[in-house]
Amino acid sequence: MSANDKCNQGEAWGSRFGVILAVAGSAVGLGNFLRFPGQVAANGGGAFMVPYFICFILVGIPICWAEWTMGRYGGRHGFNSVPGIFSVLWRHPLSKYFGALGLLIPIVIYMYYVYIESWCLAYAWYYLSGELDLGRNPAVYGAFFSQFTGMEAHGSVFKDGIKPVFWFFCITFLINFYFIYRGLTRGIETFCKYAIPLLIIAAVVVAFRVLTLPEQPIPKPWQTVLPTVINQDQWQAIQQLAMNPQTRPAELKQQVENSIADYLAHQLKSADTQIAQENVLVPPAGFAKTEAAYALAMVEIRSGQQSNAYRIWLEKAKEELDQETKLALRALEKEALQADKSNSVEHQEKIHRQRLVYFSKLTLDSVDQLAANLALVNGAERFGHFKALVLRSAALEVAELPRNVSNGLGYMWNPDFEKLKDPAVWLAAAGQIFFSLSVGFGVILTYASYLKRDDDVVLSGLTASVTNEFCEVCLGGLVAIPATFIFLGTALTMEAVAGSTFGLGFNTLPTVFAGMPDGRWYGALWFMLLFLAAITSSLSMLQPAIAFLEEGFGLKRRSSVAALGLMTLSGALLVVYFSGNAVALSTMDDWIGTVGIFLLATIEVIVFAWVLGVDKGMDEANRGSDLLIPKAFRFVFKFITPAFLLVILGSWLVQSLPAKIEAVRAQPEVLLIVLYLVISLIFLVLMVSLAGENWRRKAIHEEGDV
Ligand code: ALA
Repeated sequence: MSANDKCNQGEAWGSRFGVILAVAGSAVGLGNFLRFPGQVAANGGGAFMVPYFICFILVGIPICWAEWTMGRYGGRHGFNSVPGIFSVLWRHPLSKYFGALGLLIPIVIYMYYVYIESWCLAYAWYYLSGELDLGRNPAVYGAFFSQFTGMEAHGSVFKDGIKPVFWFFCITFLINFYFIYRGLTRGIETFCKYAIPLLIIAAVVVAFRVLTLPEQPIPKPWQTVLPTVINQDQWQAIQQLAMNPQTRPAELKQQVENSIADYLAHQLKSADTQIAQENVLVPPAGFAKTEAAYALAMVEIRSGQQSNAYRIWLEKAKEELDQETKLALRALEKEALQADKSNSVEHQEKIHRQRLVYFSKLTLDSVDQLAANLALVNGAERFGHFKALVLRSAALEVAELPRNVSNGLGYMWNPDFEKLKDPAVWLAAAGQIFFSLSVGFGVILTYASYLKRDDDVVLSGLTASVTNEFCEVCLGGLVAIPATFIFLGTALTMEAVAGSTFGLGFNTLPTVFAGMPDGRWYGALWFMLLFLAAITSSLSMLQPAIAFLEEGFGLKRRSSVAALGLMTLSGALLVVYFSGNAVALSTMDDWIGTVGIFLLATIEVIVFAWVLGVDKGMDEANRGSDLLIPKAFRFVFKFITPAFLLVILGSWLVQSLPAKIEAVRAQPEVLLIVLYLVISLIFLVLMVSLAGENWRRKAIHEEGDV
């Protein structure tokens, strides 16, 4: 037994299946079900899979193997914590300090991850109790979410009485610490053994439901626009009429038209009419605005002399559009929505012109004539000239794809290879692989240190990673975006994708569940599976620090859990308090959950391939393994992975660092969080230094005993 063996608390995994599930549990998390779909849809659809799988093979898998191997190696020498493992891999007095990163990263990610985890618990609970039935407008869910999580302002969780989210946060926090307190086998391993199969079953059920959904009708513009523009009493009256089987269609139609007429009369009197009109007509108007305009236009048309002529002519014109033009229009509208977001005036102008070309096919007018018409609508005669406006709306209707499963999957997966030229897409792919596999967290190093000397690492590492990929690509890739598309159509799906990961998960999907038969139960299942996936990940983020406190300071489980509890609570409370726009959460995610992970992964692969030596590392990995690492990986470990990582890190520094530094300067609360992170790092470095002293003293003492 080596001198260091004394440090090891003697914990070990119960079974090989158990450790694979624990590592898979660490990997499968919110990243798979919420972050991944958004990344795919925003970064070239199916084409994103090219950089994604390249990163998986050249960076994800090698670092995963390196972590498994180095962890087992460290465990054999009596260490379970990253600083301890680094100190035996690289026998240099400074090496253990690099390991401080392997403590800081999982601890800080835990601080914000646990808050998001508690939202999942809350939503699952609200679905079960039937409280989350807020209709079918994503904006309503958005408002609820913002108020619920405290994103509307800092401190709002504690203002006017403590908000419910805080209690869900406390429960989630305690659940995590309960399992950590129970220890590696009785806590983490046992929980993962039940949670992973359960969450996979739940995900399969939800995915099956989504894939068997019938095509949803595309709502007519007035159906979407009415509830947002007319008086709520009138809307309720319309709904009651619509639901009553005795109502005659003409009666319903009359009620709808009256409501629109009232709305129009009100708008005409109010000062914002002109603004509304201009917003609608100046390209590129968003869908909602166009729909509002369409509603206005229809009222005008209906009340005007030409109403029937317009309508008949319009239908005919739509039918006469050839397939090619319809497809071109769809592509163009998708691009227009993107241009809307990017705000590039030149691009918007180009799209506008192109649109006119297609519209001219509808009208037989020349492009210039159409442009003149649009200008007229926008100008003095704007209430008299609706031809161009209606054309635009008609074209948008044609451009809307049927809302079925295949178009939903197509929306997410159809490849746009052009995107691969953009370095940001590669950065996004690498970031996703890291976050999703939990590599560069320091977590796998710790987990693998509890293996026995000759336990397999290569096949186990691969199995855990493949399980993660299955959950991510096959399950995560089938639910959120296709379901959103089927119920909400292109424009809102695009909006959800362009927004945050949270928007998709907590605002858009509830709208989808609201429209689904038995949606309440699917909603509950979905958020329960997210909660389980998140817990198996957050537990893994706590174990590295527990291992460190126990082996560095000889703490017993009760004390180590209490110390870590206080440490993580301080940061998590900052996240809960500085909740306005999720500032604390995003700052921690940027500095630690993104750049920190890249940094630690780079250090790990350099230690593996250059310090330990790639030959020794590969021999160490292959010892006792049921699968040998292919020889070609020698080159990958030594050159490709480090080079890849350095390039990624360099691009992050060039692309994102200036903006991040500016945010630190401009926002005092961001500065505060960054200071907190710096102080935490210094604190951990000091702790590592003290632990190093303890290890040294023990080693001398041990030698004295011999
Ligand atoms: N790997 C974990 C996830 O995907 C952190 O959420």
